[in-house]
Amino acid sequence: MSWTDKARISAAAQAVRELRDNTTIGLGSGNTILRALELAAERIKKENLRISFIPTSYQVEIAAKKLGLKTTTLDENTEPDLAIDGADQVQWRTLDLVKGGGAALLREKIVDSTARRLVIVIDEKKLAKTLGGPQPIPVEMTPFGYASTLEKIRRISEKASLRESTGKVGPVITDNGNIIADTYFRNLRRPEIVHEKLKKIPGVIETGLFLGMADTAYVGRKDGHVDILRRG
Ligand code: A5P
Repeated sequence: MSWTDKARISAAAQAVRELRDNTTIGLGSGNTILRALELAAERIKKENLRISFIPTSYQVEIAAKKLGLKTTTLDENTEPDLAIDGADQVQWRTLDLVKGGGAALLREKIVDSTARRLVIVIDEKKLAKTLGGPQPIPVEMTPFGYASTLEKIRRISEKASLRESTGKVGPVITDNGNIIADTYFRNLRRPEIVHEKLKKIPGVIETGLFLGMADTAYVGRKDGHVDILRRG
């Protein structure tokens, strides 16, 4: 197992201590969250906790069901007590995030922004001084008119390309039936401006910039310890 996998598991083990009895938890997507879910399932069984999860993708919905966990929807529980999620990049000072590496950003943003608190689990490689750079900012967009939408995105970014799928020919189709553009920005000192510009383009549904949303980040370090960062 790589040190990043070990670090994420250590961070997830600490993050799942935040789970409380009789609560509803928003569940992000990605490999880190799968590990957190396994650890949560152990705690839930051992302590007999009554917890319902709101999944943000088929990936975590299937995993939660396999683990025998209770799932619900945002329509049934409109205010989750907590959301637990991974991220592709975290700005260490602000806890602003880049998400969407797994193309689940739209549902994640809806759930994460609705929860009373958002807790992020990462390894230290994902910490950054400023967002962007080599890290793509995913953008979910409608398939209709995608070429012209992509062209408009290109005009405000350094580079943008349609995400290709693996295991299927053609583009990635999200759980919402949409497509993803991976966009690059050299300098994201004001990510809110880029987010606003992208959102103004007709056809753009949501961006992978999660700004001012995360409350706490559990960061697994290479040396084995876990740092707990809070939004300043
Ligand atoms: C899913 O679309 C993403 O937002 C994930 O939360 C993010 O990509 C982190 O995934 P890993 O835990 O697999 O790195």
